[in-house]
Amino acid sequence: MKLKCILSILIVSAFSIKGETPAYLNADLPIEERVEDALSRMTLKEKIGVIHAQSKFCSPGVKRLGIPEIWTTDGPHGIRPEVLWDEWEQACWSNDSCVAFPALTCLAATWNPEMSELYGKSIGEEARYRKKSVILGPGVNIYRTPLNGRNFEYMGEDPYLAGEMVVPYVKGVQSNGVAACVKHFALNNQEYNRHTTNVIVDDRTLYEIYLPAFKKAVIEGGAWAIMGAYNYYKNQHLCHNQYMLNDILKGEWGFDGVVISDWGGTHNTMEAITNGLDMEFGSWTNGLSNGRSNAYDSYYLADPYLSLIKDGKVTTQELDDKVRRVLRLILRTEMNPKRPFGSLCSEEHYNAARKIGDEGIVLLQNNRKILPLNLTSTKRILVVGENAIKMMTVGGGSSSLKVQREVSPLEGIRNCVGNNCEIVYARGYVGDISGEYNGVVTGQNLSDDRSASELIAEAVNEAKKSDYVIFIGGLNKSKNQDCEDSDRAGLELPYQQDEVIEALADANKNLIVVNISGNAVAMPWVKKVPAIVQAWFIGSEAGNSIADVIFGKVNPSGKLPFTFPVALEHVAAHAIGEYPGIKRNDEDIWDEHYNEGILVGYRWHDTKKIPPLFAFGHGLSYTTFELGKVKADKEAITGEDKVTFTVPVTNTGKLEGAEVIQLYLSDPKCSVKRPVKELKGFSKVFLQPGETKNVSFEIGKDDLSYFDAGNHKWTVEPGEFKVHIGAASDDIRSSTTFKYN
Ligand code: BGC
Repeated sequence: MKLKCILSILIVSAFSIKGETPAYLNADLPIEERVEDALSRMTLKEKIGVIHAQSKFCSPGVKRLGIPEIWTTDGPHGIRPEVLWDEWEQACWSNDSCVAFPALTCLAATWNPEMSELYGKSIGEEARYRKKSVILGPGVNIYRTPLNGRNFEYMGEDPYLAGEMVVPYVKGVQSNGVAACVKHFALNNQEYNRHTTNVIVDDRTLYEIYLPAFKKAVIEGGAWAIMGAYNYYKNQHLCHNQYMLNDILKGEWGFDGVVISDWGGTHNTMEAITNGLDMEFGSWTNGLSNGRSNAYDSYYLADPYLSLIKDGKVTTQELDDKVRRVLRLILRTEMNPKRPFGSLCSEEHYNAARKIGDEGIVLLQNNRKILPLNLTSTKRILVVGENAIKMMTVGGGSSSLKVQREVSPLEGIRNCVGNNCEIVYARGYVGDISGEYNGVVTGQNLSDDRSASELIAEAVNEAKKSDYVIFIGGLNKSKNQDCEDSDRAGLELPYQQDEVIEALADANKNLIVVNISGNAVAMPWVKKVPAIVQAWFIGSEAGNSIADVIFGKVNPSGKLPFTFPVALEHVAAHAIGEYPGIKRNDEDIWDEHYNEGILVGYRWHDTKKIPPLFAFGHGLSYTTFELGKVKADKEAITGEDKVTFTVPVTNTGKLEGAEVIQLYLSDPKCSVKRPVKELKGFSKVFLQPGETKNVSFEIGKDDLSYFDAGNHKWTVEPGEFKVHIGAASDDIRSSTTFKYN
């Protein structure tokens, strides 16, 4: 070992003496050659050094060799402000404000991969300008329960939709020479007991529901990093999990990037060495809690690893593999001389955020065609609700941001309306008035000492005098709402908002409810409210996007990326899925059987014939679309053949707009249980009034297959398949059949 080290130092010195550029610094050489060259020059200590953190978000490079540090940042909606070297507290820099892009649920709701690419490219530019090598995101954990506090950071309940949307995000980020770190791999579907839940799921469900989006991010997106999850699978922590990381990710998918632990997700040196973890971050070791000067040396993958090697208990085989991956990451990012320089808080980024917000907002209900609001005949609009004024970019956990600017819904409405009519505001309810996360403060004073009945009385009184009432409420980023490290207590809206909405509906029939959330909420008043808008956490441009849709500057085209159930019992994870797990007698581990298997989201509602409140894929427009009959170019296919389905779509209304055409497949006769239907294609078409376009989808063997767990392979059974074309999972307009021989 010592000899190797002395040799490598001699080689480097020899190069410097001769003045030749060492291979690892020569950007014209293939990356793998450079990786090997750099590896051969590193001492054992340097190798151990690069596989764990040296501060909250950074790992060291190799100073002696000029190999730079790796700086990570959250992710996934904007670039997190700087914290102190060793602490979560703010570093109080004045150059670290960013643009907050819409939450990933909103991005998924655009059903438009071009928006994903724009998102990835823009946020990647912000990361690059802020000198970050890795963005800790995007997240693609499947939406299994509406209680999961982090659903807003993910892309919904459907593996196909999430997979199609994550790929352009990853590519967009990485086009800046910044790595995307896709998280949290995998089966991390709730925050409650996030460190102690052991998921028990069958292989078919794992492969069909929980893995596909990650797989696409890795194989099609080419993600350079992936983050392990906090919880357990097969009794092993997911940050060092033989099955998930070695067998599936690195084995089956051939991932050549870096597995990064979630912060504090590493628990055991030996498992971390052997079970696929490459870089350790955020461990709160004894060293740290005791305030020792270099506690990072106490990380599981630091001195303890070094000792095992020195004592001959493990070889350097795993270490070299980890270091190669880290070097590859550095060469792809920090040492890529061709990468662009990035940009921060540019108007282009604000425009991108607004565009994505405009396209992601979902018009859930629009009775009497009450929306868009027509300002020519309107004198007075009342806006009610805390979410109309509350800054939502602060809070929610690690995705919390420090923004350069944020337009609240009330401001957005005021900006849009101008002097055309009077806008009055009433609070309606008091939710959570704290506006702080890790030392970033909104600076808003939201305190209001009035009682709930006083607030309702004021709102009702104003509502009676107004032409329209826009209630803007929903969840927020506080604990037990849409927030990391906690789940919601129930499906209901918090802070007695239902009461406020009912009272407003009684006072004024022209009520519009705007729900801001990353999760489905119960709407017991759904029949009393003519218009309902699902507005997500939209970030910097929130108010502008919401106003764009309400006043018709933009024709809504978002579609739900998850089902809104009527009641929590209608959700499979709650009906039969054992959420939130069952505690073991003797250990602090909660086993959770995903008994519902593949029947997640609409797959469950369809199969059990449980009507949703609003279905997966649902979303209205201010214009109307007619979908013609779907036609196939073949009646049967064999082997690797593809069949093309075409459907004409016409904008039959008076406004330009976009419709998302959705293709679902079903396999009515199969030896294993299949969902009633599954999304296998979608396309967002933009149409002028009267315009018709043909939309085509190619379907092949892979789309028809199920995962045969017994034989551990994807399988298609010959026979008849059905194709359904619709505008939502509960709005199928035409179907046809074809055969796979
Ligand atoms: C979160 C990650 C995040 C990390 C760093 C963890 O608590 O689960 O998503 O990237 O912290 O902030």
